[in-house]
Amino acid sequence: MTAPLRTVPLRTATPDDHEALALLSAQAFTVSPAPFDPARRPYLVDDARRLVADADGRVVAHAAAWRFGQWFGGGRLSCAGVAGVAVAPEHRGSGLGTAIVTELLRTVRAQGDVVASLYPLNHRFYRSLGFGLSSVRRRDRIPTRELARTQPPGGRRDPGVTIRPTTLDDVPGIEQVLIRRARRGNGLLDHEPRHAARFAGIASASTYAWVAVDAVGTVRGYLLLSARDAGRPGRVVLGVRGRPGRRRCGDRGRAVAPGR
Ligand SMILES: CC(C)(COP(=O)(O)OP(=O)(O)OC[C@H]1O[C@@H](n2cnc3c(N)ncnc32)[C@H](O)[C@@H]1OP(=O)(O)O)[C@@H](O)C(=O)NCCC(=O)NCCS
Repeated sequence: MTAPLRTVPLRTATPDDHEALALLSAQAFTVSPAPFDPARRPYLVDDARRLVADADGRVVAHAAAWRFGQWFGGGRLSCAGVAGVAVAPEHRGSGLGTAIVTELLRTVRAQGDVVASLYPLNHRFYRSLGFGLSSVRRRDRIPTRELARTQPPGGRRDPGVTIRPTTLDDVPGIEQVLIRRARRGNGLLDHEPRHAARFAGIASASTYAWVAVDAVGTVRGYLLLSARDAGRPGRVVLGVRGRPGRRRCGDRGRAVAPGR
């Protein structure tokens, strides 16, 4: 390395980078480096909102921004959901992480975003970039036998509400559920349609999704359930997202920084 990495030019990503980015990300977030398959793992973030840095003839840093709305006092602000920030291990500690996130914030600001949010794995790094902690993500662990005892509000299921597996046609309705919920709180996010699509039409050996639809066909809630091996034979952890009833299933935490 001859020049300090903070001087390495940054560029927007192209589809040709996706395979290298999958590996960089697997290394940074210690997930299994499954063979890259663009059909199975579509890159949902626009490349115009994805920056990379090259050094030694390869991609060594990445940062991307989802396009979200973030709601405060019933109003929606354009928000960058900063994600996938990663620097190759041998290039860390040279200012490259700071440089790429700073440039990403400039880029999304020019595209109209006025706030940025993220889930920090690393508080010190993001604090140095101006982010602060605004809320926490809550996870409840509930034994499945307790779920079996759960009663609908009022003790019986509303006969006007149908619960059925989702289809991709439910995406607009699911988006509206997210927006209705977000409107009632501060800092909650809505999702661009491609992101909301993750909540619908998903069926695999380990993921199931349902919607609750009222008598006039309005989607009132959704539930996404994914099962993962808990590391012990016969034990599976079910992850639930959504708000099918009145009770909140989980809060999302995020840090907010003023747009730069
Ligand atoms: C986090 C990461 C992107 C930082 O990249 P980097 O190029 O090393 O960061 P910088 O050199 O610009 O460091 C900026 C500041 O953050 C601090 N920092 C960086 N990584 C840190 C870490 N793992 N723990 C604590 N502080 C860290 C640095 O010390 C520096 O602060 P200082 O100037 O006060 O010393 C990189 O370590 C990485 O890819 N980690 C694995 C993936 C990850 O955690 N991504 C963030 C996910 S939310």
